[in-house]
Amino acid sequence: MVGVMHFPQTTIGKKVIMAISGVVWIGFLAAHMFGNLKVYTGAEHFNEYAEGLRTLGAPILGYAQALWVLRIIVIVSIVAHMWAALTLNQRNRQARPARYTEHKKLSANYATLTMIYGGVAIFFFIIYHLMHFTWGVAGVHPSFIATDPYHNVIAGFSSYGYVPAIIYLIALVFLAFHLFHGTWSLFQTLGLNNKTYDGALHGLAWAVALVITLGFATVPLGVMFGLLS
Ligand code: HEM
Repeated sequence: MVGVMHFPQTTIGKKVIMAISGVVWIGFLAAHMFGNLKVYTGAEHFNEYAEGLRTLGAPILGYAQALWVLRIIVIVSIVAHMWAALTLNQRNRQARPARYTEHKKLSANYATLTMIYGGVAIFFFIIYHLMHFTWGVAGVHPSFIATDPYHNVIAGFSSYGYVPAIIYLIALVFLAFHLFHGTWSLFQTLGLNNKTYDGALHGLAWAVALVITLGFATVPLGVMFGLLS
């Protein structure tokens, strides 16, 4: 029991927590991106899909119960992911030898810095995104209608001189790098990388990052270029 309780405090424990919570988020993002593509099938289908998420498991489960189970898994995962990232970074900084040349410091820190600053940017984007499309905060969304997600997406991206659409596209660039580095680290945690497979794993990490982010990006771009209205 003591061993189990101690596991999250160990370096490998934190890496395993980051890997599992990261995979949960990759799964959520892939499903969310794929669901978003239904926007191309029109308002009726897209809104039906959004309502379907709330009636998942009916009539055995009540309204939005299954959705709340998924939401809790996603929230616990993001909190665990950030906690493990920050405590791992703290540990690495304490363990780092004091005498480091400036050049080495830069290259050693490049991935870590990208992940930490990118992660913080993505976290703030998620808060903005929830205010925009889930809570429909006045001033953030121009005309939110709780029962009409299709309208919310189209109006949300065509408003305020396309500034929200551009914020999403910038956030997706951060997300692409985060997903690439994260998936690559996941392969390392799993002990998969060696000289023979590194090239293929690199490609796979980019594929995960780009399929997800480009899939998301088609929606604000579609609105900006008049494909969706
Ligand atoms: C262009 C890209 C995106 C579009 C059009 C979009 C659209 C939406 C919409 C319409 C909702 C509300 C769904 C509903 O209430 O039925 C939503 C919820 C959500 N989105 Fe996105 N999204 C995008 C990208 C992202 C990204 C990149 C992330 C994470 C990094 C994300 C995370 C979430 C989360 C956590 C929720 C709340 C889910 C819930 O509680 O039901 N979304 N999104």
